[in-house]
Amino acid sequence: MSRRLLVTTALPYTNGPIHVGHLLEHVQSDIWVRYQRLRGNECIYVCADDTHGTGTMLKAEEEGVDPEVMIEGMRREHVRDFRGFHIDYDNYHSTHSEENRELSELIYQRLVDAGLIFTRDVEQLYDTERNMFLADRFVKGKCPRCGAEDQYGDNCDACGATYNAIELKEPRSLLSGAEPAVRSSPHYFFDLPQYSDFLRRWTRSGAVQPEVANKLAEWLDVGLRAWDISRDAPYFGFLVPGTTDKYFYVWMDAPIGYMASFKNLVDAGGGVRFDDFWSPDAAGDTEVHHFIGKDIVNFHALFWPAVLDGSGFRTPTRLHTHGFLTVNGAKMSKSKGTLINAETCLEYIDPECLRYYYATKLNGTIDDFDLNFDDFAQRVNSDLVGKVVNIASRCAGFINKQFAGRLSAELHDVPLWERFIEARDELAEHFENSATSRGVRLITELADLANQYIARHEPWKLARVPERHDEMQAICSQGINLFRVLAIYLQPILPGMAERSRDFLNAGPFTWDGIDKPLLGHEIGRFQPLFKRMEKKDLEALVEASKIEADADAGEAASTEDDTISIDDFAKVELKVASVVAAEHVEGADKLLRLTVDLGGERHQVFAGIKAAYPNPEDLVGRLVVVVANLAPRKMRFGTSEGMVLAAGPGGADIFLISPDSGAEPGMNVR
Ligand code: MSP
Ligand code: ZN
Repeated sequence: MSRRLLVTTALPYTNGPIHVGHLLEHVQSDIWVRYQRLRGNECIYVCADDTHGTGTMLKAEEEGVDPEVMIEGMRREHVRDFRGFHIDYDNYHSTHSEENRELSELIYQRLVDAGLIFTRDVEQLYDTERNMFLADRFVKGKCPRCGAEDQYGDNCDACGATYNAIELKEPRSLLSGAEPAVRSSPHYFFDLPQYSDFLRRWTRSGAVQPEVANKLAEWLDVGLRAWDISRDAPYFGFLVPGTTDKYFYVWMDAPIGYMASFKNLVDAGGGVRFDDFWSPDAAGDTEVHHFIGKDIVNFHALFWPAVLDGSGFRTPTRLHTHGFLTVNGAKMSKSKGTLINAETCLEYIDPECLRYYYATKLNGTIDDFDLNFDDFAQRVNSDLVGKVVNIASRCAGFINKQFAGRLSAELHDVPLWERFIEARDELAEHFENSATSRGVRLITELADLANQYIARHEPWKLARVPERHDEMQAICSQGINLFRVLAIYLQPILPGMAERSRDFLNAGPFTWDGIDKPLLGHEIGRFQPLFKRMEKKDLEALVEASKIEADADAGEAASTEDDTISIDDFAKVELKVASVVAAEHVEGADKLLRLTVDLGGERHQVFAGIKAAYPNPEDLVGRLVVVVANLAPRKMRFGTSEGMVLAAGPGGADIFLISPDSGAEPGMNVR
C-alpha cells in the first residue's frame, strides 16, 4: 500500500543567502522525497522562508525599504538557489503570509481556550533612545560572573555563564550606544510544563532518533519551563490577538509556517485536503516528517508537538535530525572562503557533485561531518565517474556501433543480475533512514562487480572475432542492464544524471518496482557523457570567489556600523575621472567584466561585477567613469584588479555607473 507523506525542511531565515550548510539539509530531505516518489508513495514537499523578528525590522529600516519587499526579494533568491540544486519543492512559501497569520491566530486561540496560556510581567532592558526593548543580541556589557568585557545579553564567551540580560554590568545598547534602562511589561506564556508527561512519551515513541531522545530526556529531567511566546512592539510579525503592542515571537509562528505552506498549496487545488494531514485522527493515515538540524531540536521536539496537541492538531510522525557541516575540518569561515553560498557554488561546480558528496556522508545520525575538498573530488571522480558511469561508457560504444543500438534478447550472467536486484531491499532501508552513505557504498560495491565482470570477459577482444559477436553483444548488454539498475538506485541522489541515463537507455521513466525488468531485445539511444569529472582547480576558484564576496560584505558591514568617518578618512580615498579604453567578458566568470581605464596617461586594469547590467561591454568603451585610484591591488583568479569603478544600485542588472558631466577629463581629481 502506498504511503501518504508530507515532508518539510527547516525554514531558512530571511536574513541571508543559502549556504552549503543549509544545503546539506535540503539535499538530505530532497533525496528522501525523491526516493519516496520513486517507490510510488504520495509525497508532498514544502518549505518557506522564516521572516519575522527584530532583525528583519531593523535591516529593512537601515536599507530604507519595506520589510515585505525585502523578504520577498530574499525568498526569490532562496527559491532560485534551491532550484539550482534540484531541490524539488511543491511549494516554497513565507511565514509572513495570510495562511500563517490565520493558523497562528487559530492555534493561539485554541491554546487560550485550553487554559495553556497565561501572562506574567517580564523585566527587560529597554533602549530609551530607540524606544524599544532590546533582544539579547542587541546588548553588550560585562559578564556578571567573570567580568569579561563585551559580552552579549544571554551568555559569556569567556566563562560560559548564562544569565539574564538585566544582570549584565555596564550594559549598552548596540542600536544606540546608550545605557539601557530596566523596564517591565506583560508577556504571554505557553504553559509547557503541563506537557511534561506527554513529551516524555512522545520523545520515546520512535518519533526521534535514539540519541536525540537521550538529549531530550536530559532536558525533561531538569524540568520544563513555561515558554515566552510574545515580544513587545516594535517588531516585524503578527500581533497577538486582542493586543495592540504584543507580537508572536518568531519561533511561535515559524513551525506553523510548515502548515501554512501546505495550506497555501492545497488551497490552490489538487484534491488533497488540509485535514487529511493535520486533523488529530490523520495520524493513522498520513505521515508528517520534519528535517532539521540538531541546533533546533528543542523547538521541534518539545514546543512544537505540545503546541500542536494543545490546539487540536496531529503531532509529527518523525523528526529527522542531522549534525553540522564543517568545511576542510573547521567551522565555516568567511575569511577563509569556506562559508560558501549556494549561488557561488553553482557558478563553479555541478550541483550534482555536491548532492553526491553529501549522500556519501549522510548516515542518519546527528554526528557532524566534513566537506573535505580532496575527498570530495576523489569520491566524484573515482567512484561515480570512474566506476558507475564507466560501466555505461565501456559498453555503450560497442552496442551503438556494432549492433545498431540493439541489446541482446537474454541476460548473459543471471546470478550477477540477481545480485544487483537483491540489493534493493537493503538500499530501501538505507534511504528510509537517510543513511545514504551506506547506500552509496553498496552501489559502489556493485559497480566494482560490474567492472570486474566486464574486465574478465574483455568484450573489446571479441570485436575482432566475427563469430563471437553474439557473445560480445550479450556481455555489453549485461553491462548496460547493470548500469541501469545503479542509475535507478542513484536517481534520488542524482536526478539530472538519471534523466540523461533515461534518454540514453530510451526506456521510459524509472520506477522502483520496474528495477527487476531488464531491457532485452531493446534499442537504446546514442550514448552521451553522463557525468563530468570534477576539477580540483574549480574548488580552489570557488573558495577564492567566496573570499572576495566575504570581503565585499565586510566592507558593507563596516560602513553601516559606524555612521560617520572623519574628513581625513575621506581624504585618503583618491577618486579620479577615467575613461574606459577596453571592456571585455572574463572567461569563466559569470558576473565580471575586465575594464582597462585611462587615468590621464596611467592605465589600470579593473575587474568589475557589472556584467548583468552591461551585457555588451563594447558599449562602455569611450565612456567616462569615476574610479578609486589608490586601492591596494588585489590578485584574483583572472588577474590583478587595480582599482574600483564607482556605481550605484542594489546589484544584479540594476547597476548604474557613475559618470561626470561632459567636459571632465581623464585624470581629474574627484571631490
Ligand atoms: N529559521 C530557523 C528554523 C525554523 S524551522 C520552523 C533556523 N533557520 S536557519 O537558517 O538558521 O537554519 C535552517 C536550518 O539549516 C537549520 O535546521 C539548521 O540546523 C541548518 N543549518 C544551518 N547551518 C548549518 C550547518 N553549518 N550545517 C548543517 N546544517 C546547518 O534555524
Ligand atoms: Zn563570564
